[in-house]
Amino acid sequence: MENGGSRQVAMAELREVQITEEKPLLPGQTPEVAKTHSVETPYGSVSFTVYGTPKPKRPAILTYHDVGLNYKSCFQPLFQFADMQEIIQNFVRVHVDAPGMEEGAPVFPLGYQYPSLDQLADMIPCILQYLNFSTIIGIGVGAGAYVLSRYALTHPDTVEGLVLINIDPNAKGWMDWAAHKLTGLTSSISEMILGHLFSQEELSGNSELIQKYRNIIAHAPNLDNIELYWNSYNNRRDLNFVRGGDTTLKCPVMLVVGDQAPHEDAVVECNSKLDPTQTSFLKMADSGGQPQLTQPGKLTEAFKYFLQGMGYMASSCMTRLSRSRTASLTSAASIDGNRSRSRTLSQSSESGTLSSGPPGHTMEVSC
Ligand code: BEZ
Repeated sequence: MENGGSRQVAMAELREVQITEEKPLLPGQTPEVAKTHSVETPYGSVSFTVYGTPKPKRPAILTYHDVGLNYKSCFQPLFQFADMQEIIQNFVRVHVDAPGMEEGAPVFPLGYQYPSLDQLADMIPCILQYLNFSTIIGIGVGAGAYVLSRYALTHPDTVEGLVLINIDPNAKGWMDWAAHKLTGLTSSISEMILGHLFSQEELSGNSELIQKYRNIIAHAPNLDNIELYWNSYNNRRDLNFVRGGDTTLKCPVMLVVGDQAPHEDAVVECNSKLDPTQTSFLKMADSGGQPQLTQPGKLTEAFKYFLQGMGYMASSCMTRLSRSRTASLTSAASIDGNRSRSRTLSQSSESGTLSSGPPGHTMEVSC
């Protein structure tokens, strides 16, 4: 698939549609322009929005959103969280919208063959080639986490790290299909997608957040497109992760799931199949199904430690608060900018703490 991928990049016709927008400024910040582009790929065109400017010798942060959302509805609360600013100012960010999910996307014609999740992953090289970026740190949620994992399996040399929220690496079994079909008899597509994004407890609680997302999805002008992405997600192949086998993620991975999230068991199982020396597991209390929306502070803190484990985020870039919180880490993970692939974060879900490197080095992330 890798050779096919490079061929596809060569075949890709590149096109730029521009939309320039500004995000709200925090006090003392200079404006950062976001630019939306689209590229033609062998599987149709894909839009993505770039924030910030490329930083020499640093990967781009590339995000991929879940079904029912787009990059903004999935990631804006996290990327606009105040403490996140000191992190992301050091990286250029590329936020991909799955085809037909970008704001104002026209509805695909009847019979349109929506790309499979594997094909969505095969579109990523076209984006990176267009931008001339060689490596990424991926952040994906749900279907987006699957797409980035598939991309990492086929292009391991280009992925420096992955934050995978609510990943389910397994294809649906016949029991899942039966349950899915039954639910489909009584529920609308938007309710099924809400059930994928949020816990039943959250949905019945009907908080402002749930009302907001229910409204966004139920009244989406591109709901037919969303259904196509949903179908591709439900038809995904098994990623076939095998611990110690060839089909495994080679880069540092931070798995994240809410402790009440619909995908908790899948993420726990995924953790058991990945390389424990490369994988950290963060089970977040009180976060529901979408930790990046409900707990951006905790996720920001965990992401900062994850980057430190990879040798990014020098201590001089950190706030006093962060420095004092990471004091126990200094002997285990680099916080001086020296990169090391062998140091990763790991998390004990029972204690709600994160540790880095050898056992005994523990950091609190208040999860
Ligand atoms: C960013 O700064 O990367 C960002 C801003 C708004 C929405 C999503 C991402």
